[in-house]
Amino acid sequence: MLHKTNALFQQIYDDLCRKIEAGEWKENEKLPSIRKLADELGVHRLTVFKAYQLLKEHQKVYVKEKSGYYVKGELAISHHPIVAAYTQRNHLSEIHQVPAAYQFSVSLIDPNLLPNAYFSDYVKRVFDLYPKVLGTYASVQGDEELRTALANYFGTTHRFQVNSEELLVTSGSQQAIDLLAKIFIRPRDVVLVERPTYSSAMDTFRQHGAHIKSITIHPYGYDLDEVEHCMKVYKPRFFYTNPTFHNPTGYTVPPSQRKKLVALAEQYHCVIVEDDPFRDIYFYDAPPSPIFTYDTDGHVVYIRSFSKYVSPGLRIAVIACRMPLMKSLLTAKSLADNGTPLLNQKIFLHYFLSQRLQLHIAKLRTALWMRKEAMEKEMTQSDWYWEQPDGGLNLWVQLPTYVSMKTLLQKAHERSISFAPGRIFDVDGEFHSWIRLSYSYMNERELRTGIAQLIALTKPEIYV
Ligand SMILES: Cc1ncc(COP(=O)(O)O)c(C=O)c1O
Repeated sequence: MLHKTNALFQQIYDDLCRKIEAGEWKENEKLPSIRKLADELGVHRLTVFKAYQLLKEHQKVYVKEKSGYYVKGELAISHHPIVAAYTQRNHLSEIHQVPAAYQFSVSLIDPNLLPNAYFSDYVKRVFDLYPKVLGTYASVQGDEELRTALANYFGTTHRFQVNSEELLVTSGSQQAIDLLAKIFIRPRDVVLVERPTYSSAMDTFRQHGAHIKSITIHPYGYDLDEVEHCMKVYKPRFFYTNPTFHNPTGYTVPPSQRKKLVALAEQYHCVIVEDDPFRDIYFYDAPPSPIFTYDTDGHVVYIRSFSKYVSPGLRIAVIACRMPLMKSLLTAKSLADNGTPLLNQKIFLHYFLSQRLQLHIAKLRTALWMRKEAMEKEMTQSDWYWEQPDGGLNLWVQLPTYVSMKTLLQKAHERSISFAPGRIFDVDGEFHSWIRLSYSYMNERELRTGIAQLIALTKPEIYV
């Protein structure tokens, strides 16, 4: 049934999406012709044409010249009516679920590099200090002691002034991204992302019905004219950025651009969501200050995860933002989980404030740099292309164009090698000859062996 309130083509689009996801049309199956569907629905052909064009734009169908519209692969996941009703995707987590001996796909620190032995000391200390820690709910906004400590930390290390009321503790930055999507996005709202971008953020925005537009990130940052054009023309709800040791490319946006971005955000009333999980993982100089530092008017929301170098298992991240956005975030957070577990927050707090953490980060930087160097050295045996990152956990690598990603994925899987294909980081599903390789999860020996095997799988003779 078509409702009068929404544009007709959008209702047809929604209905077609639902049918594709429910498996009514299978992969590579042709959709009814525009004329047939228009007659069936009693609408103008142009209306159906617009719905089909939107499907194409959202990567749900592809077009065969002079033939029609066909369902793209991997969309119809389940034929079970209940499962199909809730079908969503998280491309990265699907890749991570496949076990592999050579793990290049997870952008996570090797657990052997984390101070696991010391964590038990902190757990014990927390139970001694707060014997009722498990007997109470955490506050929705997060533990006051932790927020005060983080506000001091941001003031001294990043020179941005926030008070504890302007901080919200979340269960990882994935939750922060999801909460922001919940409060900002309504179906068909435009969201700007970088191209390429962190794929789970894009999957989250899609899940909330966002129409995603992208801005290319280069080794030198953005083309600011492109940013201005997108803000002006598309009026996005926000621009999601990861400007420091960007995932997947490792690029860092220079300070001059950070300042100008804030000016553009103010001019076009576009919020900037700055996701900053890799800031402390630098190999040479410390990176430029966060974009948030330049904001005086509440146009930037800052997300800082501590998963990457403190502990992924504690799931501690924080959102810094100005009022009144915090009010909406608090409501969203209370509806999501009523607060991040207090025990995790207290363990994190005591470790975070310890001298041990500083020693750990310094050692971690060296260990990761050595791993990166080992991997790059092995990669010099290939004809792959990549830019050397100054920090972060990944290399963004271009393979020769003759390499078929489908074949490479299959062959790598057979040899228990995992990597993340470039297309999952792109709103248009392109970057077909690019892959993301993480150097953070395996030791140097494993990295070298895994890369040597992967190089062998990209030799031209395999693709003739
Ligand atoms: C850019 C970016 N944002 C967010 C996350 C999620 O981090 P968390 O473990 O804090 O949810 C990741 C994880 O890889 C990431 O790369």
